[in-house]
Formats: sequence, C-alpha cells, structure tokens
Amino acid sequence: MILLVTGGAGFIGSNFVKHRLENTSDKIIVLDALTYAGVLDNLKSYLNDSNLLVPTSQYDLKKIEKTINQYGVTYNDVKDEVESKRLSSKLREFSPKYINIEDLNEKIEEVLENTRLAFVVGNIIDSTLDEKLMNLSDIVVHFAAESHVDRSIFNADAFVKTDVYGTYSLLEAAKKCEKLNKFIHISTDEVYGQAKEKPFKETDPLNPRNPYSASKAAADRMAYAYYQTYGVPVVIVRPSNNFGPNQYPEKLIPVVTIKALNNEPIPVYGDGKQRRDWLYVEDTAKAINLLIEKGEIGQAYNVAGRNERENMFVVERILEITGKSKDLIKHVKDRPGHDLRYLIDDTKIRGLGFKQDRTFEELFDHTVKWYLKNKNWWEKILREDEEYKEFMEKWYENR
Ligand code: NAD
Ligand code: DAU
Repeated sequence: MILLVTGGAGFIGSNFVKHRLENTSDKIIVLDALTYAGVLDNLKSYLNDSNLLVPTSQYDLKKIEKTINQYGVTYNDVKDEVESKRLSSKLREFSPKYINIEDLNEKIEEVLENTRLAFVVGNIIDSTLDEKLMNLSDIVVHFAAESHVDRSIFNADAFVKTDVYGTYSLLEAAKKCEKLNKFIHISTDEVYGQAKEKPFKETDPLNPRNPYSASKAAADRMAYAYYQTYGVPVVIVRPSNNFGPNQYPEKLIPVVTIKALNNEPIPVYGDGKQRRDWLYVEDTAKAINLLIEKGEIGQAYNVAGRNERENMFVVERILEITGKSKDLIKHVKDRPGHDLRYLIDDTKIRGLGFKQDRTFEELFDHTVKWYLKNKNWWEKILREDEEYKEFMEKWYENR
C-alpha cells in the first residue's frame, strides 16, 4: 500500500510516519512545505541521498533563478527571499534532489523501488502537486496544518491559507482521483469548543472559539462536505492534546521542560487551572492505523487520552522530573479566548478496538526525559530558527 502523508515533518506526522514504517510494509510519500514547524531531523534516519525531492519547474524558473543563485536552493512556492532563505536553512544539512515537476512521479516510483519513503518538499495548496501525488497513492493521511493556537491569535492568515484552503486543495485533488481508498483527515477536539462537564460526542455541534480551531472546524466540515457531495472517501479523526518526542518547542510540555532546564521563568497562563486531556503521540498513530483499516467512510472519530489534568499539574510534574524549583513558575496574562477545558467521548473508536497499553505517568516521564536526552534536537531550533525566536519574543514579552 502507498500512503500520502501531508505534514510528515511535523510532530504527529513524523511520529506517525516512523510508526507506520516500523510496523507495516507500506511505502510512504510525505508532502511537507517545511514551514517553521517542519523539522527534517525528525525523519533523519529515513532520509538518504536520493529520497528528498524538491519539485521545481512549474513555476517561473527565471524569477527564482536569482534566489537559487543567492541561497543555493529553489522551491516550488518561492515568492520572496525570506521563504527561500528559510528553506535553504532547513535543507542545508541534507541532499535534496531538484526535480522537474513533469518527471516527479517517475522519480518517486524509482525512489520507492529502493526505499520505503519519498519526501516531497511542497505546499498542499498546490493542487497540481496534490493531484500528481494522489495518483500514486492508495490512502491520504492529512496532518499538514498551522497548529499553534497562540500563533493564530497573533495572526490567523497562514491558518486560513493552510488549514482551510490547503485542505480544500487536497479534497479537490481527491475528488478527481478515482483510485483513492481513504482520505483520513486529521481534525482536533478543539472544533467542539470549550467543554463543561459532559464530554462531546461526534454528533455534537461544533463551536470553535479561536482562529486555529475555527480554521480546523472549517476544514473538518469541508472534508465532510466532499464526502457527502462528491463521495470522497473521507474519515475524520478528532484527537485530544498530543504529547511525546519531537513536539515543536512552542507547546506547553516542551516549553516548560526547556525553560526549566534553562532555569528560566515558566509562563503559566492565568491561574493554570485549565484542563487538557493528554494523548500519547504513538497512541494517536495507532488510532489512525485502526481507522485506516476499520474507519467507516463519512464518519468522524474522537480519540481521547482519558488523562485529563490541570495545566498546573503538568507544570509541577515537569519540575519534579527535572529537579527544578516551583519558584520558576510565573503566572502570566491569560491567552485571549482561552478554552478552559477540552473533553471528548471516544466510545466510538474504543468500540473498534482502540486501547492504550501504557500509563500516563510512564509516558509523561518518558516524554520529559526524551527532551532531557535530546537537547541537540531542540537547541538547534532555539539557536537557528529565526521565525521561532521572533514569535517567542513577541508573544511572551510583557506577559
Ligand atoms: P506541527 O505544527 O508540529 O506540524 C505541522 C506540519 O505541517 C509541519 O511539518 C509543517 O511543515 C507542515 N505544513 C504546514 N503548512 C503546510 C502546507 N501549507 N503545506 C504542506 N505542509 C505544511 O503540527 P502537529 O502538532 O503535528 O499537528 C498535526 C495535525 O494534527 C494538525 O492538523 C493539527 O491540527 C492536528 N492535531 C494536533 C494535536 C496536537 O496536540 N498537536 C491534537 C489534535 C489534532
Ligand atoms: O486539543 C488539541 C489541540 O491541542 C491541538 O489541536 C493543537 O494543535 C495543539 O496545539 C493543542 O492546543 P492547546 O492550546 O491545548 O496546546 P498548548 O500546548 O498551546 O497549550 C496547552 C495548555 O497550556 C493551554 O491551556 C494553554 C497553556 N499554556 C500553553 C503555553 C504554550 C500555558 O499556560 N503556557 C504556555 O506557555
């Protein structure tokens, strides 16, 4: 089977790709634009001299020739120097192959004869590219998104472009692709909005309350609409808060762990009594595998961790594991429109056989220790990612 995985260089996407490569005999095509959150190191051991592909020529080559000369890299969405510079830094330590778009599918087929992963650097908004890659695939697993709520509060532009328009582009391609068996759309529990006491079921109305979740809700319903209207074989997955290795250091658990290790103040929004339900990233991968096999087309499935904790609990546990003092905690200005609680009922996917086999405590300790052992991974991001530095400074200053 060949899977097309969008967003495969991100946190959940890369963990899913590794899990799938290690536990099946599938071949995988990743499509990832390598935004700030796309980290090639996440898949380093699967990348070689021939399977990292950068399609080029559908664009005005003359226009981008200048940037190629300047930065030694081209890209199918090069619009400006900033984009080009960012990509050249992402690709610097790798050996990308620049491929004429006309020859892309042939090249991917050749790559997949020798290795099980082909990584295509490209944007899901490009429906020509989507169509080409889908023609080679049996299943789509669509993770690619702008995923950080705080960034969406700062500026929602990229969220609408990628999460809404990008999903629409993929669905348009899927509509034309007759051989596709399933289109697994990764949504989120945030689409239901803030929970009170009763967990949300898949049939409850969506009520997103921040720009990220509003974009995800639009994508979720667009996927459903393409199933209802055109028969695209869509299955929608709504996981709760994921945790685990390789989470980009902007989300709560890596932010707190890294700040603790660096003896820096730990920013807790408001009183820290907000609650999240934590789901280990490998369990998300298992849930998706199950839905690839057994998920009913046209249905949505909640995936809960059943590990609901207050943010303060999470922060204090990290301080215990890292051996740091609670004095580092700094209560800061709350997130605007903060959803105090997410809570979903996952009876439906449990009915298909979904279960976790390790405890939250075990997995949480393992995760924090992963960041302790893999300083190189996050120190490189903190040192080299200009977009990261800029966002962190702007978001946390005056909080
Ligand atoms: P992430 O931010 O770590 O990774 C996103 C990936 O998508 C990156 O590799 C990035 O380069 C890529 N990408 C972004 N825009 C793109 C575009 N236009 N074209 C191609 N690639 C693009 O995200 P994550 O935390 O791994 O989340 C993955 C998916 O799961 C998202 O759809 C998110 O909404 C959903 N989700 C996440 C969580 C969570 O707790 N992290 C929980 C539920 C659902
Ligand atoms: O519920 C699923 C969602 O979980 C996913 O769809 C999103 O992609 C993912 O980012 C996540 O969203 P959250 O907003 O819940 O995650 P985040 O890690 O940003 O924040 C978790 C909680 O911690 C939230 O209540 C805000 C709080 N927080 C976060 C940060 C970064 C802090 O108190 N301080 C911080 O510095």
